[in-house]
Amino acid sequence: MAKRKYNILLGVTGGIAAYKIPLLVRLLVQEGYEVKIILTESAENFVTQETLSVLSKNPVYTSFFNEKREWNNHVHLADWADIMVIAPATANTIAKMANGYCDNLLMATYLSFTKKVIVAPAMDAEMWEHETVRINLEQLKSRKNHLVLPVEYGALASGITGWGRMLEPQEIFYHVQKVLTKSEELVNKKVLVTAGATYEPIDPVRFIGNRSSGKTGIAISEELALRGAEVYLVHGNVTTSLPKHPDIKCIKASTAQEMYDACVEIFPNMNAAILAAAVADYTPVSMADEKIKKTDDIFQITLKKTKDILKTLGELKRKEQLLVGFALETNNVIQNAQKKLVNKNADMIFANQCTEENPAFNVEENELILLKKNNEIKNLGKHKKFKLAEKIVDEIVIALNTKNTS
Ligand code: CTP
Repeated sequence: MAKRKYNILLGVTGGIAAYKIPLLVRLLVQEGYEVKIILTESAENFVTQETLSVLSKNPVYTSFFNEKREWNNHVHLADWADIMVIAPATANTIAKMANGYCDNLLMATYLSFTKKVIVAPAMDAEMWEHETVRINLEQLKSRKNHLVLPVEYGALASGITGWGRMLEPQEIFYHVQKVLTKSEELVNKKVLVTAGATYEPIDPVRFIGNRSSGKTGIAISEELALRGAEVYLVHGNVTTSLPKHPDIKCIKASTAQEMYDACVEIFPNMNAAILAAAVADYTPVSMADEKIKKTDDIFQITLKKTKDILKTLGELKRKEQLLVGFALETNNVIQNAQKKLVNKNADMIFANQCTEENPAFNVEENELILLKKNNEIKNLGKHKKFKLAEKIVDEIVIALNTKNTS
């Protein structure tokens, strides 16, 4: 049973499978969800506005203006919905979604929508196999808020048997529920995340930094917020845009000391901390007040150790709090990460090896190994950073649930 009343925006496009959509609407409404529907012009050949309006108990939208010549505001529709489901999604609509076309109300709403989109494709077997359709589907799958459902094998409208049938309404309903349940996994949980690189100033214009983009920490923050957590993102310098989600509070901390101060202050009120920032291990003993002029051939800077945030939080940690660190190694990954897990009193370490094939910094993909306190080791594989963030947060959910029950 849905814990809260979710708003579902259902986009129906012009494929024969549209005749099954009234069943999906009935299942969603019976479950207590509020459903609004946008029909494309060609979908009206397969299913009527009247049927869908009666079942959804709402007017059905078909174009930018209703019969009273009033504007159907696509931005309001997108804001209203918690989730968008496009079923059936024809090859034509998939192509438009992949390329940003905006020639009907459904596409305008889709382009205004930033939350989770579930796509249930439906088409004939040849179309399903066509290279362009494959490319367009890959494009949609690579978007972090899209879930592209598979198709079924069976009898198709053209008379041939093959891949391309839309999933049955019951199965689409199951996926919608799964996504919405996931969005509640971390409700009432507060999580501190660190991300990006610290810059340690040498003089007013120079610093010691590193190549961290902040992508992993930011992707983790977004995934945590999507599952209902309140996130405190303490970030150093990042080369990617900061998250926009209203439940993520971004706190800038340029240096290792600033990041340390922010984390020590925030941590006591958190259920978990995930330290993904690349914090400088050393910082100049002092910063020159003026720009340093070049004089001698050799110039030396004296560095001192920074405070270890992970270690400090490990000392402060209460038993119900979860502490997660990262380890970037060039050799002996498991042994070195294991040492960090123990020395810093962390519950989990996500380790990666920095090699030519897996540079870890400033790349889209990464490969991670998870080490847990109970000596369990799990390879999460090589994935895009947002996919890895999903896997990391799956593990955090499990670990937090275990803490709560032990
Ligand atoms: N970390 C931290 N504070 C620091 C340095 C690192 O909180 N001053 C955190 C990182 O965010 C990461 C973990 O510690 O989660 C491991 O970072 P790493 O630099 O690999 O570990 P070190 O303990 O500094 O070990 P070494 O540099 O010797 O590998």
